[in-house]
Amino acid sequence: MLDKLDALQQKASAALEALTDVAALEAWHAQYLSRRGELTQLLRSVGQLPPQERPVAGRRANELKAALEVAYEQRQADLKRQARAQALTAERVDVTLPGRPPSLGRLHLSTQALRRIYAIFADMGFQVYRAPDIETDELNFELLNMPPHHPAREMWDTFYTTREGVLLRTHTSPGQIRAMRDYCPEPIRVILPGMCYRYEQVTARSEMMFHQVEGLAVGKQITMTDLKGTMAEYARRMFGVDRQMRFRASYFPFTEPSVEVDMDCILCGGEGCRVCKYTGWLEVSGAGMVHPVVLYNGGYDPDVYSGFAFGMGVERPAMLIHGIDDIRSFFSNDLRFLEQFG
Ligand code: DAH
Repeated sequence: MLDKLDALQQKASAALEALTDVAALEAWHAQYLSRRGELTQLLRSVGQLPPQERPVAGRRANELKAALEVAYEQRQADLKRQARAQALTAERVDVTLPGRPPSLGRLHLSTQALRRIYAIFADMGFQVYRAPDIETDELNFELLNMPPHHPAREMWDTFYTTREGVLLRTHTSPGQIRAMRDYCPEPIRVILPGMCYRYEQVTARSEMMFHQVEGLAVGKQITMTDLKGTMAEYARRMFGVDRQMRFRASYFPFTEPSVEVDMDCILCGGEGCRVCKYTGWLEVSGAGMVHPVVLYNGGYDPDVYSGFAFGMGVERPAMLIHGIDDIRSFFSNDLRFLEQFG
């Protein structure tokens, strides 16, 4: 009997050493220590021994059982520790790797340009006044001194809607009438930013939608000099302190006199280059003194009040500043373009 127990002890210990996972461990426990296990069988057979051998064999068998239980539990703990260590190794992270940058949204390039323009005019006392994109023919044209069939309407290729007399504004100028009717008889200093729409062939140089910023100042002493100073201040803050300005006689139905405001080319400084088409000058804005008819339509007495107005693009200056050569990039929603700004 004692020999059998010795043999069992050796066999069980060796097997326990050799096994490497929990499933094998449980199989080992079943083989030796369960109710039908080999050691349990041996223990039971102690009763069949001659009475004088029983105490020694019984004690030896019980000691072996206790020892194997302890060994089992230790091995179980070992295996768990090993498994945990393996899991940790598998999940190891390299804490020296650079972090992943969170992806941030950004403002659209047009919005960035608009905000720069707001800031510049805010410093000169201009407030932002909002007017709708969908306008009436009356505000977009008639009240701006262009009755139906006026030839100057040809300057704007218009998107009409199916509703009679309703269109997409071709410029921000109708906001002038809205602002005047709102403020009258107070003096006014506002800018009117917003999207404009034109039924035009889309090319690298012209889009069918684009932003403008309209400006309007109305008061009792407003002169052309105020317009010139305002335009020069804008150009110098937007494009650089050295900018030279030029005012060319022009025509708009809603201003008299009307001018085209130019600045010296920011790329060649007036020498002449591809961007300024070898003229040395870049167009900044259309502008002029508010036409008496327009003042009157806004509610102001043109004998008492005067005003200046201007209307400038937003995408064009952004193109100049960033060297963008295709205006279609602004609204084609290509993230590879948009992500470069801001
Ligand atoms: N509305 C004109 C356009 O879109 C631009 C303009 C010219 C606006 C002269 C003005 C102005 O306020 O005085 O072509």
